[in-house]
Amino acid sequence: MCTGNIYGTKLECMEILLATNNKNKQKELVDIFFKHSSQHKLQFPNKKIEVIEDKLSIEENAQKKALEYFSEFNKPVISDDSGLFVNSLNGAPGVYSSRFAGEHASDIENNQKLIDLLLNSLERSAIFRTVLCFYDGKKILYTTGELQGEIILSPRGLNGFGYDPIFEVNGKTLAEMTPEEKSEISHRKNASIKMVKLLNEK
Ligand code: IMP
Repeated sequence: MCTGNIYGTKLECMEILLATNNKNKQKELVDIFFKHSSQHKLQFPNKKIEVIEDKLSIEENAQKKALEYFSEFNKPVISDDSGLFVNSLNGAPGVYSSRFAGEHASDIENNQKLIDLLLNSLERSAIFRTVLCFYDGKKILYTTGELQGEIILSPRGLNGFGYDPIFEVNGKTLAEMTPEEKSEISHRKNASIKMVKLLNEK
């Protein structure tokens, strides 16, 4: 437990460990919780835990991370897993997004593989999806956030990571957006806002 302060009133708040070593994700989630919840304070792990993401869905991977972090730190945790789901490819690369072109493939190689597969396709709609999983040793909660867009065949933009240069929303790729613009619409933000609401209700 921690104490927060809202309009001069002291409130008890819950400390939640973020089950990720990724600095971008940590910043994004901390900002959202800071803005939307005075009852929850996110913390970072003080040591690195490598969780092998070997499940068949992003939901199961998120759950695996939450359970492993909880058993290591014995604190409430929130974990996440994300992927890109292309409709005309039956949801590929999905849970395999980070290793679509092979086990240690670079972002450029993953993007190129997707472009090659879609070269002759007019239907290139896709969805970024994030699953967040909260676990405190008793209850387990999940939220999902999505962002709809279109895969383009010529990458544009220098910001972001992963599939951002080929994922277009309203005429702009995610890599052409500022981090703030991307955070406003991102799948991770949508999942986080839902998680804040769910935790505030429980
Ligand atoms: P993670 O599990 O959240 O690390 O995501 C798995 C993979 O999905 C990443 O390695 C990226 O290739 C892709 N991905 C997830 N979120 C994003 C995003 O916001 N932009 C671009 N690619 C993403």
